[in-house]
Amino acid sequence: MKEYKRYLITSALPYANGPVHIGHLAGVYIPSDIYVRYLRNRGADVKWVCGSDEHGVPITIKARKEGVTPQDIVDKYNKIIKDSFEQLGISFDIYSRTSSTTHAKTASDFFRHLYDKGEFIEQETEQYYDEEAGQFLADRYITGTCPHCGNERAYGDQCEACGTTLSATDLINPKSAISGSAPVLKKTKHWFLPLDKHEPFLRKWILEEHKEWKPNVYGQCKSWLDQGLQPRAVSRDLNWGIPVPVEGAEGKVLYVWFDAPIGYISATKDLTPDWEKYWKSPDTKMVHFIGKDNIVFHCIVFPAMLKAHGDFILPDNVPANEFLNLEGDKISTSRNWAVWLHEYLEDLPGKQDVLRYVLCAGAPETKDNDFTWRDFQARNNNELVAILGNFVNRALVLTGKYFEGKVPARGELTDFDKEIMGQVADSKKALEEYIENYRFRDALKEMMNIARAGNKYLADTEPWKLFKEDPQRVATILNLSLQITASLSIAMEPFIPFSAAKLDKMLGIEHQAWDRIGEYDILPVGHTLGKAELLFEKIDDSVIEAQLAKLEAAKELNAAAGYTPAEQKELISYDDFQKMDIRVARVIAAEKIAKTKKLLKLTIDTGIDKRVIVSGIAEHYTAEQMVGKQILVLVNLQPRELKGIMSQGMILMVEDYNGRLVAVSPEDNVREGTCVG
Ligand code: 2FM
Ligand code: ZN
Repeated sequence: MKEYKRYLITSALPYANGPVHIGHLAGVYIPSDIYVRYLRNRGADVKWVCGSDEHGVPITIKARKEGVTPQDIVDKYNKIIKDSFEQLGISFDIYSRTSSTTHAKTASDFFRHLYDKGEFIEQETEQYYDEEAGQFLADRYITGTCPHCGNERAYGDQCEACGTTLSATDLINPKSAISGSAPVLKKTKHWFLPLDKHEPFLRKWILEEHKEWKPNVYGQCKSWLDQGLQPRAVSRDLNWGIPVPVEGAEGKVLYVWFDAPIGYISATKDLTPDWEKYWKSPDTKMVHFIGKDNIVFHCIVFPAMLKAHGDFILPDNVPANEFLNLEGDKISTSRNWAVWLHEYLEDLPGKQDVLRYVLCAGAPETKDNDFTWRDFQARNNNELVAILGNFVNRALVLTGKYFEGKVPARGELTDFDKEIMGQVADSKKALEEYIENYRFRDALKEMMNIARAGNKYLADTEPWKLFKEDPQRVATILNLSLQITASLSIAMEPFIPFSAAKLDKMLGIEHQAWDRIGEYDILPVGHTLGKAELLFEKIDDSVIEAQLAKLEAAKELNAAAGYTPAEQKELISYDDFQKMDIRVARVIAAEKIAKTKKLLKLTIDTGIDKRVIVSGIAEHYTAEQMVGKQILVLVNLQPRELKGIMSQGMILMVEDYNGRLVAVSPEDNVREGTCVG
């Protein structure tokens, strides 16, 4: 294992076009805060940087929609995000912004350095241009019909109905989202980072030298590398961003994913004049905390940029998490299906640590995970209150009762005493192992094991029954219980820092260094404790019901506001209608298509034959749910190959206001093959 002298920790820069929600917290900010707090408690030289990502097309779209400037949008959300992080105790050393002057210069110089070294290729491409608006159109600004599934509201970069990644030129009948007019293709010059050139290096660096990366991260990298890397454009035709610092590049800015990771460098510059030590010295351990949608940028693109530049170190690890769902449904900003941090802080004041605890306990470390309010309540009531709070409270209250709140002196220790103290020391080692390997859920359980050991100690020794006959034994038990409580407080700090601070106050001590966990004399004999208070309180059903009602209201609001039935299409003749052969069919077999999120392969009995249809419904129906169902199928649709499978027809579905797909079936059982008409 490589020895490092210092750490540079980065957390994904949130886009400043909306507030932060629990998915962001569980994925990135809580794990990185735990990691950094742990390192600080160990006395490590560590810098932790983050900030707002303030460029990119979505910010300009939001500004246009709200009739304000992009600057207004980023000013507003930068403040909301920064304040709410602070209140949750997310302890960045700096929360910077990519609109800062330091960043504009850093990103611009970085580009120029690569440009001067000949690390880019220049290419002319054809891009859609809105002649009415007089500007080039970003892919998101173009809508049209998806060539794969026929969805008429596909975007120029992706069809959200079938999940296919698109290029704007793939769309049928493209329309500009700005003026509504049909855009024209126009030539434009851009700079590309030739990732293909860096592929051999990246293959070796990741696939051979970083086999220890999390399987989800390593797997995604491998799959990108195995597909072969292509040059990537690092500039855009846009009027929001950092100008491309090259003559003849008027109207062009750096692509947001080129400038954003450089934001980590700019933030470090603003944090310390010593920034180069953290970015350029091989004995610095750099770790990027991100969500899974950022893997390619942090494991492939940014390292290629750093390598091409030549002066910088590369990350030692990129511990990306998967996604968090909410009450069984994908978190969605546009549908307001989220628990927003700033709202949580208002609705449940003083409960920062409960959220931190629950999100760490259910963090999507290896696979997507679900947040539910009932689980939130159960973890608070059954774990924080019943295990942790209960132990601490008993140790303090009993000391108050028998020894006037002063740490009593120990007598001789029994084997059981030593065994329990040994368990605390073992927990320390396990905690270190877990945290250093980015296994924060296991680490949290281990922290709770210290409280469990304490509870067991008190339950087995029952000091409340012994005071009359053996006060010395009670003194020993309570002395050790208090030492365990002090150890617990040290172990709690990275995860639930507000409660650790409260506990330190109750113990009447300053926060202690990590290495003291498991020691016998953290609290000296005769030391006076502070006032005992409850560390955690039960959360009532009414609190949970209010949050559930809030989510329900969001659903309703979506239904009312978000849903406008599509306009009626052009008139068609009866003959046109007759051309469509729509029949009742039954699904006789179904299976999920490997390596796709949305596709099911359905074998159906159409009454005239048995055939296969590939349908983008896997996020709405499981294979099992489809088997046996009667459905309506357009059987004379031109066959089409999808993922190497010939799809012969289309299953009729309706899309609900919230994007849910619902199969259309005859009201009663009908013979397969019966025509609709
Ligand atoms: O996905 C996102 O939210 C991006 N704003 C993350 C950027 S991370 C970094 F590269 F700045
Ligand atoms: Zn589609």
